[in-house]
Amino acid sequence: MSQLKPMSHIDSAPSTPGKFKMEKASYFNRVRWHTSLAKLAVWSFVFLGAILIFFLRSPASSPVPADLSRRSLRTYNWGGPVWEKRVRASAQIRSRNGFAVLVTGAAGFVGTHVSAALKRRGDGVLGLDNFNDYYDPSLKRARQGLLERSGVYIVEGDINDEALLRKLFEVVPFTHVMHLAAQAGVRYAMENPGSYVHSNIAGFVNLLEVCKSVNPQPAIVWASSSSVYGLNTKVPFSERDRTDQPASLYAATKKAGEEIAHTYNHIYGLSLTGLRFFTVYGPWGRPDMAYFFFTRDLLKGKSIPIFEAANHGTVARDFTYIDDIVRGCLGALDTAEKSTGSGGKKRGPAQLRIFNLGNTSPVPVSDLVSILERLLKVKAKRNIMKLPRNGDVQFTHANISYAQMELGYKPTTDLQSGLKKFVRWYLNYYSGGKKAVE
Ligand SMILES: NC(=O)c1ccc[n+]([C@@H]2O[C@H](COP(=O)([O-])OP(=O)(O)OC[C@H]3O[C@@H](n4cnc5c(N)ncnc54)[C@H](O)[C@@H]3O)[C@@H](O)[C@H]2O)c1
Repeated sequence: MSQLKPMSHIDSAPSTPGKFKMEKASYFNRVRWHTSLAKLAVWSFVFLGAILIFFLRSPASSPVPADLSRRSLRTYNWGGPVWEKRVRASAQIRSRNGFAVLVTGAAGFVGTHVSAALKRRGDGVLGLDNFNDYYDPSLKRARQGLLERSGVYIVEGDINDEALLRKLFEVVPFTHVMHLAAQAGVRYAMENPGSYVHSNIAGFVNLLEVCKSVNPQPAIVWASSSSVYGLNTKVPFSERDRTDQPASLYAATKKAGEEIAHTYNHIYGLSLTGLRFFTVYGPWGRPDMAYFFFTRDLLKGKSIPIFEAANHGTVARDFTYIDDIVRGCLGALDTAEKSTGSGGKKRGPAQLRIFNLGNTSPVPVSDLVSILERLLKVKAKRNIMKLPRNGDVQFTHANISYAQMELGYKPTTDLQSGLKKFVRWYLNYYSGGKKAVE
């Protein structure tokens, strides 16, 4: 016991050194005791108040542990009988042998087009998107409006929200997941690397965890990227080529996704198809992509940066029109075999595929600008710059023979015709439908 005494002195010492006076210890102890009681009372009120607010804000149907797990995410409103009815109605299959598809990233560029196409042919479609502000969220809201008018409901939530995903599968036994939610863009990774890990790795794993454990397991088709080819110099890029030299964190997370997909296929029997998209463009596109902001800047009379590789090397992209990509996605869903696991256990080997979805005709970025000049009837102020080493690669070029053979994939839109459609949409969208281009 005597050994404990010096310890009690230390316990009552203030954390600020030098302010402690030994002879006034008992006085301080009394004052501290009263202050502590007052503090305890105040904090108890704050704590009880916080708990009350927390429960009042919680959706009716979500269980408490689920809400706890959502603390790190933004609070979204979901749950309740009306919400469930909406989810069910959106995912209602209307054609013979149709699918019930959960489309993640449905308010995104590709997600909107794929959702609309699935709905048109009679599949049940439910969207999921967190409407983040990586680019103008009002464009995502406008796409949401478009889908709503065709009967597709987008649930607002994050793919990291396990409780929400479980709830969705409880309400609808999805046959397929079209996973397009991701943090896209190569340059933004230097600004916000965590967002890539959050959505492209943690979010993907969370989705796969839920998919592996539900019964029946859905078949999953998901978006990888041509960026996995990284610093490859062998062209055209074929699925068998090496993909271990990513030039950006974005590419690295997509490559990680491919490896993660392999694991879930191997251990749990999930049917997984990865699609390596090559620079997708078209109406309702992404404002962070060159064809989009070149159009905006050309119209504003701003100069256009055109990158050049070492020794005046041309920078080129295998631009792929959105309708061709959509056909590729539908082809992948249609040929996806069922997952073989149940109750989190594999029952037999399951399908694992990876396809290039490109256009097989790379176009120099300077030609892209020339086409836009003609369509917009403006002269570009070209600013030739060295290609920075911040994630972009010099060229992309897809070999699509595997997708052609397995999915019947055959791109039909050249850059000139595709950009014409994009520009028409752009002028209409940003002038409130008053302008159009021929
Ligand atoms: N567009 C291209 O050229 C291209 C090329 C290669 C690969 N891809 C891939 O295709 C997919 C679709 O791309 P896009 O061009 O439509 O991009 P996009 O940014 O328009 O769409 C992605 C959507 O996912 C949502 N999202 C992001 N993180 C989320 C999360 N954690 N939870 C829920 N929703 C989330 C975003 O709000 C967005 O609406 C992405 O996986 C992208 O990496 C696109």
